[in-house]
Amino acid sequence: MIEDKARFFKALGDPTRLTIVGCLLKQDHCACDFSKIAGRDQTTVSRHLKVLVEAGILRYEKDGRYVIYSIRDDRMKDTLEKCGVEKVDSCCPGSEMDAGTKKDVVKKNYGKIALGLVQGCECCGDLTNEQVSASIGYSQQDTESFSEANLGLGCGNPTALGEIKEGDIVLDLGSGAGFDSFLAARKAANTGKVIGVDMTEDMISRARKNAEQYGFDNVEFRKGDIEDLPVETGSVDVIISNCVINLAPDKSQVFREAYRVLRENGRMYISDIVLLKELTAEERNDEELICSCVGGALMKEDYLDLIKEAGFEITIIDEDRDISKRQYSGYPLESIKLELRKK
Ligand SMILES: C[S@@+](CC[C@H](N)C(=O)[O-])C[C@H]1O[C@@H](n2cnc3c(N)ncnc32)[C@H](O)[C@@H]1O
Repeated sequence: MIEDKARFFKALGDPTRLTIVGCLLKQDHCACDFSKIAGRDQTTVSRHLKVLVEAGILRYEKDGRYVIYSIRDDRMKDTLEKCGVEKVDSCCPGSEMDAGTKKDVVKKNYGKIALGLVQGCECCGDLTNEQVSASIGYSQQDTESFSEANLGLGCGNPTALGEIKEGDIVLDLGSGAGFDSFLAARKAANTGKVIGVDMTEDMISRARKNAEQYGFDNVEFRKGDIEDLPVETGSVDVIISNCVINLAPDKSQVFREAYRVLRENGRMYISDIVLLKELTAEERNDEELICSCVGGALMKEDYLDLIKEAGFEITIIDEDRDISKRQYSGYPLESIKLELRKK
């Protein structure tokens, strides 16, 4: 009994879940509505719905291909209202930009950066690309070797997080102008290979031009979406990714795809932005914040849960909180550096 009460209050102790319950106090909803209503991605919403069902607050019914959620019964409605849960109008405060629009916004922004029409992420203020790179773990030699490919867009140095051996097949998710791909290609050497994947046409063109200029013939850039990788299953030894996954609307799918293309015992080295405090719905919809790797970022625990759900073992290598002041105007976030292993 006491456990049930604790589960009930714990389930309500989260702003997203309170929004969901508030909407359902007004009317029943299809599971597919909540992403817009709560302003969170579908995977996160599904997890919140599960908590609320397990706490006995919600129930659901399948209606063809729809899953309709409602408050469990009238007694529960009374209890919730007595506890002060307010009804929320579902045409709703946190309506989130849909996934396709988000990707278009991101492509447009990084296309401009690739063409040199804008300097880089608005977030980095007056810092030069070299200053950004030095502050996130690149050596002077790294930046001097590939200055054309370093656009100052990273939040860490994934190739320094673990070993890349001669002969390795490396995949760079969101390869930009190719900076990390080239650093990895030096390590993988002629017997290895690097595949960079990026969805922005002009980034791919710039990266290919850079590969030619730097004389790499073990690097290939493929245009594609990291949610649907143009890469063969079980073909990759090491995946790297620098400040990209936060930009993808369906992060769960990114981790499932990464898991698919890695060979058994393969590793992934990530540097990415995660939140330490929820953003407002307005911030999550702000195009500049989305493109600056903030608006689409997940809470740290949600991000790590998605990785575990994809089947990976996680080691947190480092967490850089100072980056918030240096590059992100003090937003409550950190750059997390992870090693993932395919079990
Ligand atoms: C912040 S930049 C980082 C680039 C590079 N990793 C670096 O550190 O210089 C993000 C890059 O990811 C690409 N990107 C964003 N979302 C993507 C997606 N869903 N699929 C493929 N590429 C994506 C963008 O086009 C852009 O080049």
